[in-house]
Amino acid sequence: MRKICIINQKGGAGKTTTSINLAAGLSRNDKKVLMIDMDPQGNIGTSLHLDSDKDIHDLLVENADPAECIRPLAKNLDILSSKETLTKSDAILSRKENSQFVLSEKLKKLKGYDYVIIDASPSLSILNQNALVYADEAFIPVPTDYLGYDALGKMIQAILTINHVFGSETKVTKIVPTMYDKRNKICNEFLDKLRNKYYDILAEPIRVNAKLKEAPKFGKSIFSHDKKSRGAKDYMQLVKSVINDEKKMKSLTEEVMKESVKAASVSAS
Ligand SMILES: Nc1ncnc2c1ncn2[C@@H]1O[C@H](COP(=O)(O)OP(=O)(O)OP(=O)(O)O)[C@@H](O)[C@H]1O
Ligand SMILES: [Mg+2]
Repeated sequence: MRKICIINQKGGAGKTTTSINLAAGLSRNDKKVLMIDMDPQGNIGTSLHLDSDKDIHDLLVENADPAECIRPLAKNLDILSSKETLTKSDAILSRKENSQFVLSEKLKKLKGYDYVIIDASPSLSILNQNALVYADEAFIPVPTDYLGYDALGKMIQAILTINHVFGSETKVTKIVPTMYDKRNKICNEFLDKLRNKYYDILAEPIRVNAKLKEAPKFGKSIFSHDKKSRGAKDYMQLVKSVINDEKKMKSLTEEVMKESVKAASVSAS
């Protein structure tokens, strides 16, 4: 079972769009997927028009069983959703000791899935610390521009810190360039920078596509909304590359991680 957290502390980087379409695409390729929304904004529930029911808050702080909170969404695809009450979970967990391990503890008997995909919030909250401690892999969606590139170094630094402090071993196994527009000079400049530095684990870029923005309004993944769109093609290409990684997993080396951290501190100063 691959446990993947889709994370970037930068807001609006394409985390939720990537989580939904990656999970939907994997499930369409016969992979059994659990999607977890760890963001109090509850964007997954809103994007897929889900009613509220028992959710991740009940699992984390109300002692509910995973089976009561996980619901089927489509063929091969289950969901553990969230809503605003997750803010309360965040506050409750923040006051407890060792609360970074709650998600791992609650899901330790989880089985039957090929993939667990976690949509993280744009922060380094206790909830995201839980997500990173639980996950084995982190995928970082990065807008192809200056601020996106800057945020990437900082995110890698945060993952290194969390691994160090909590003894976890989460590896960055995919960097996904998002909001790419080939007519835009800045997008090409930063895509080149990403290619030079992160070649081994860099996904093909996800192009800007209005259909990706529209799909949540209809409560659908891009594949149900418009399977011929550029968004659907780009996300299916990502899905195939993720499946292909099952044969041979690559991740950021310690050396590249440390280099990124150094670059992030220089750009921050
Ligand atoms: N490739 C794309 N082309 C056009 N619009 C996109 C694309 N990817 C995402 N969007 C839109 O950009 C906005 C931000 O995307 P998304 O919600 O996926 O980011 P996020 O990182 O989850 O945000 P947050 O940090 O608030 O959780 C949304 O309106 C989404 O529909
Ligand atoms: Mg989001």
